[in-house]
Amino acid sequence: MKKKIMYSAIQPSGKLTIGNYVGAVRNWLRLQHEYKCYFAVADLHAITVRQDPEALRKRTLELVSLYLACGIDPSVCTLYIQSQVSAHAALCWTLNTVTYVGEASRMTQFKDKSQKHSDNINMGLMDYPVLMAADILLYQAQYVPVGADQKQHVELARDLALRFNSRYGETFTVPEPLIGKDEGRIASLQDPSKKMSKSETENPNASVYLSDDRDTILRKFKRAVTDSENCVRFSEEKSGISNLLRIYCAFKGCTIAEAEREFEGKGYGTFKLAVGETVADVLTPIQSEQARILGDRAYLNEQLAKGKRSASYAAWKTLSEVYRKVGFYRGD
Ligand code: TYM
Repeated sequence: MKKKIMYSAIQPSGKLTIGNYVGAVRNWLRLQHEYKCYFAVADLHAITVRQDPEALRKRTLELVSLYLACGIDPSVCTLYIQSQVSAHAALCWTLNTVTYVGEASRMTQFKDKSQKHSDNINMGLMDYPVLMAADILLYQAQYVPVGADQKQHVELARDLALRFNSRYGETFTVPEPLIGKDEGRIASLQDPSKKMSKSETENPNASVYLSDDRDTILRKFKRAVTDSENCVRFSEEKSGISNLLRIYCAFKGCTIAEAEREFEGKGYGTFKLAVGETVADVLTPIQSEQARILGDRAYLNEQLAKGKRSASYAAWKTLSEVYRKVGFYRGD
């Protein structure tokens, strides 16, 4: 039986957080053997906010190495850099013509980022979800594993696929988001009402980065905002502790109920230390593997060239079909 197709990507726009790991990469590891997977480094998306060119290039390779170090296996899936496959920008242009300005300007992330980068509200920022739809639709992906913050964008991709199909005839698979129930939204350790973010600059203790060393990880969890009840239980009113429980369970591989039982009668100090240690135990070997892979440029380039070939092949197949449907002359 033909495997179903799955697509996801991460922007090389800052240091990855445990939110990106838990909400995205960790799920990909499980899914890569079940589905035909495409995983990209979304550098075209990253330049919608200002980037230092040298730093962007460096972070792109770091992200590829991190995917590999986490266990993404290039022999079973396609791992590539988005800007190396020009079909993404080409399909984005075509999809722009079936996207309404109203729906693009209503996207929550566009509104948030416009506020945050008020000196640089560029067209790319508004077009971000259309490019994301192009990514997904080019590969005829059925599933898109992302964190909860990207649900609205995948829904736009669905709407655009349905609209294009009804206007031009069946062309795109209509995708669905795959979002983990508990781990889809990892919150800031300092303000649990906000998501943990790569671009956090105000409070250095709010985000735990995948590159943080053990002491930094333990210190950040020690300082995490909690409440005064001193009882480890999951509840919507206890957003700080619930967030730590989500993180603990994701890294430990246990359920919330199991974790609540484990910490029954124990105080927040003990719990926070256990969360920090569990996270550090998972991240330390990933960090050394990433450093090893990053040092092997020949291997990285070889994997990326292979990924580019495989992605380009699939993408051009869809793009040619789209160009034929919209009425572009193809010379045949
Ligand atoms: P990015 O780089 O902002 O986020 C990458 C992935 O991490 C998830 N994520 C989180 N999950 C749980 N808790 C958090 N605090 C948290 N923060 C981030 C995001 O939901 C995402 O899954 N636009 C995408 C990149 C992209 C893409 C695509 C994804 C480009 N094209 C096509 C899927 C399909 C993004 O949010 O990147």
